[in-house]
Amino acid sequence: MAIYQKSTSQFPVSKLNNMKKNPILNHLIWKTSIGFVLVSLLLSACLPASASPEGAGKRKVEVFSWWTGGGEAAGLDAMIKVFNQKYPDIEFINAAVAGGAGINARAVLATRLQAGDPPDSWQGHAGQELIGTYVKANQLEPLNFLYEKNHWLDVMPKNLIPLISQDGFIYSVPVNIHRANVLWFNPNILKQYNLPVPATLDEWFNDMDILQANGMQYPLALGEHWTAMHLMETILLSSLGPDKYTGLWNGKTDWNSPDVKRALQAYAKCLTYANNDASTLTWQDASQLVVNGDAAFNVMGDWAEGYFKELHKEPKIDFGWTPVPGSEGVFQFLSDSLVLPIGAKHREEAIAWLTLAGSKEGQDAFNPVKGSIPARSDGDRLLYDDYLQSAMDDWTQDIIVGSLYHGVVANDSWKTEISTALGVFLTDNDVDKFQTSLIGACRRFGPCK
Ligand code: GAL
Repeated sequence: MAIYQKSTSQFPVSKLNNMKKNPILNHLIWKTSIGFVLVSLLLSACLPASASPEGAGKRKVEVFSWWTGGGEAAGLDAMIKVFNQKYPDIEFINAAVAGGAGINARAVLATRLQAGDPPDSWQGHAGQELIGTYVKANQLEPLNFLYEKNHWLDVMPKNLIPLISQDGFIYSVPVNIHRANVLWFNPNILKQYNLPVPATLDEWFNDMDILQANGMQYPLALGEHWTAMHLMETILLSSLGPDKYTGLWNGKTDWNSPDVKRALQAYAKCLTYANNDASTLTWQDASQLVVNGDAAFNVMGDWAEGYFKELHKEPKIDFGWTPVPGSEGVFQFLSDSLVLPIGAKHREEAIAWLTLAGSKEGQDAFNPVKGSIPARSDGDRLLYDDYLQSAMDDWTQDIIVGSLYHGVVANDSWKTEISTALGVFLTDNDVDKFQTSLIGACRRFGPCK
């Protein structure tokens, strides 16, 4: 109770007044407070070891993510380094679980949350993943007090705040902006066969036809299941355009329309160019096929750029990039967003971590290495390489749409059902059946009637 009051005591007064007027909020806060007291009592009674096994008073913070390799761990390490300098008395416990896009980490996190054993802070995604899962389950503390104290509302993107808020409460600290709709290519291969950098889906397929005719059986590098879904969301965007793509998630685009069928057909065609061992490859394996010259193209979020840098590959020489053909002028975004759970064992230390993650210093340490741009608008542009500077420009100029796989547009249940339908499609290639499953998924978990 005391701890919860401490955070709310720094809310803007207007918010506190609104809360007083709002019986639902009052109920939630009451529930939260009681829940917190119970969890705290339980923790102090049952889990003294987790507070400090090797001596009272040791300060620590356990941060959970899936940033374990290929550019991602390096980004996290860069921010941990700054954290250690600023808070030498706090031990940083890196509880990262391997597996791109959180395929394993999110399951481990769910188990821990169910067991009442939350890490002190974890990596989530701005959007439906945050709001529809953790906020819905009443697992997070609002962070308005941190926004107030650090004046973050002045520097965080205005369009991002609604995606991490509910009822006026802000629930996370966005540490970056990633772009999902990037086509990475091998410039030497395009040069060798005199192929243009494709700007439309047809131009892209034409390039890949030529490569296949010249003996490159799999010009498109693809990895495990989630990367196929990542590819799918980018092709939906390219084929439908930004308005209709966004309409898929807010109920304005009919999943049963010929446009969606055409988009799924384009996706099916795209898959014919991909390696047939995709399910055995991580996203890093697939990215590497491009820079090694074994494939010409790969669609992946711009964390791939962090990986290329870790491999000491040169932008524009060893790898090139362009929006996924057909999506020029559109930025399909996601944002890694860090949270504070109700019942954090090391709450003050977690607040120190979140304060760094939201700061210019923290974001400028993390993002240039991670292959993302800062969520804050005041990042030091000179610290960012060619690709990232182009992403910074696009983020401010382009039409913005949200990523499916990385938590922005659909709640977890809907996303899981799409993923299951995709699993079937990847084995039977039946576009009609796939579309029917997607229509059903939207009816069950999305806004479709
Ligand atoms: C995304 C995450 C990125 C990156 C990627 C690959 O979901 O937002 O930061 O980690 O997965 O693992």
